[in-house]
Amino acid sequence: MKLPHRWTKNALLFGGIAAWGLLLISCVSVNRAVLAPPAVPGAKFVGTKTCAECHAEITEHFNTATHANLALSDAKVGDTGCEACHGPGSIHNKAGGGAGTIVNPGKSPETCFACHLDKRGEFSLPNAHPVLAGKVGCVDCHDPHQGKVIKRTGAELETPNETCTKCHTSQKGPFLFPHQAMQEGCTACHNPHGTVNQKMLVARDANLCLRCHLEHPAVAGGVLGDGKIVAGSQDHRTRLQGGTCWSAGCHEDVHGSNASKAMRY
Ligand code: HEC
Ligand code: HEC
Ligand code: HEC
Ligand code: HEC
Ligand code: HEC
Ligand code: HEC
Ligand code: HEC
Repeated sequence: MKLPHRWTKNALLFGGIAAWGLLLISCVSVNRAVLAPPAVPGAKFVGTKTCAECHAEITEHFNTATHANLALSDAKVGDTGCEACHGPGSIHNKAGGGAGTIVNPGKSPETCFACHLDKRGEFSLPNAHPVLAGKVGCVDCHDPHQGKVIKRTGAELETPNETCTKCHTSQKGPFLFPHQAMQEGCTACHNPHGTVNQKMLVARDANLCLRCHLEHPAVAGGVLGDGKIVAGSQDHRTRLQGGTCWSAGCHEDVHGSNASKAMRY
């Protein structure tokens, strides 16, 4: 599911819905998804300005955040961007903090799932980051408060791959023989939410590599214009019957190698 990119500020639905203590955000999209911020029993929305009184640092840069686009205007309280993820803040505000008065989505992905309905399914796939088990959180890879929520491009300090290599240090390099594919980012080969394939790969076996290496002798036919068989072509086909491009004895060091240009041990 691709998320809608524009929100109507006047699409707030009050009335019967407000009675449930929920603020439903209806967005402009083909399938008209209805998304809900988390609820805090008995609390009302107070607006981002109120949060700023005590959380100045977070609020200061919030206008650069992807989710600042969620800020919805209500005549009484102004922007409710913070409360889209943290739930209505009136009780928290009055108490000046306190356990159970506000939602902290860092502790569970449920808040994110409420709007990103398709993500629970992705993290339930056979090979996924252990987000549902609470070992990795959405915020390990996404910044809810500042800059682009996908930490890859723009003014953030992190380069695309640093989001991943802070935990996966052995893929960090630098390598004597780097694989140029890494320049396209880890997501050229992995879907970090999850896939049906081993190691969260975006495609199986040789298909993964052939996305970029169609000219490889194992595929390209192996017969040159002058009828000469390309050396190794038959060898490649035989090897592929018993494994993948990165099986033992082949290109095991797919991320980059310090031993050979062909990324072998
Ligand atoms: C009067 C001051 C005050 C205001 C206003 C305020 N907060 Fe807080 N907030 C605190 C204090 C103090 C803490 C730390 C104590 C605690 O964890 O409850 C806190 C903690 C939090 C936490 C972490 C809670 C946790 O369980 O980890 C979140 C999230 C939060 N505030 C969000 C908000 C949001 C969103 C708003 C605006 C709707 C807001 N706050 C308004 C004082 C305030
Ligand atoms: C996209 C959802 C989202 C929005 C919008 C959002 N937050 Fe948060 N907030 C989070 C998540 C997730 C965490 C947990 C961060 C972590 O564990 O590292 C968090 C944590 C916090 C905390 C606890 C302290 C901390 O840094 O861990 C405070 C306070 C807070 N947010 C305030 C705010 C304020 C104020 C706004 C609006 C200016 C806001 N948040 C907007 C998702 C959001
Ligand atoms: C109230 C609904 C809501 C909640 C809660 C919410 N999001 Fe979002 N999120 C959106 C919408 C709407 C967009 C699209 C914003 C845009 O493109 O302007 C978005 C965009 C994103 C994107 C970027 C998508 C893209 O294509 O650029 C990521 C990543 C994301 N959210 C992660 C999270 C995470 C992680 C959480 C929990 C901390 C969260 N969201 C909570 C509604 C929500
Ligand atoms: C291990 C890192 C990682 C974790 C954990 C993670 N994400 Fe992502 N997410 C990414 C990366 C990287 C992208 C960009 C993918 C791309 O551009 O190909 C992304 C893209 C997205 C997008 C926009 C594109 C899409 O697939 O719809 C959304 C929305 C999103 N993530 C939500 C979430 C939510 C919600 C959680 C927690 C339940 C989460 N992510 C946890 C790394 C992560
Ligand atoms: C907060 C730390 C953290 C971050 C950030 C992170 N990962 Fe992971 N990653 C993990 C953990 C924990 C596992 C599960 C390891 C296990 O089950 O043994 C994992 C597993 C994996 C695996 C599968 C490994 C295996 O042996 O099956 C791949 C591939 C992977 N991550 C890629 C990525 C990519 C790509 C990114 C960036 C988009 C990323 N990771 C970001 C912690 C992280
Ligand atoms: C060219 C495709 C490609 C790119 C780009 C790529 N990977 Fe991988 N990755 C693979 C393949 C293939 C495997 C499986 C290797 C195996 O099973 O021996 C793998 C395995 C992994 C594993 C599991 C390691 C293990 O020992 O089982 C992790 C973690 C990982 N990759 C992280 C990353 C990170 C982080 C990035 C970006 C910095 C990245 N990958 C970029 C193809 C890629
Ligand atoms: C996102 C594109 C992409 C993917 C996917 C990809 N590669 Fe590459 N790879 C490149 C580029 C670009 C180069 C450098 C140009 C070249 O040599 O073709 C390269 C170079 C190589 C080289 C070095 C060739 C040489 O002699 O210099 C090997 C070996 C290699 N890739 C193996 C693999 C394997 C194995 C896979 C699958 C796990 C894979 N590649 C997937 C883009 C990719």
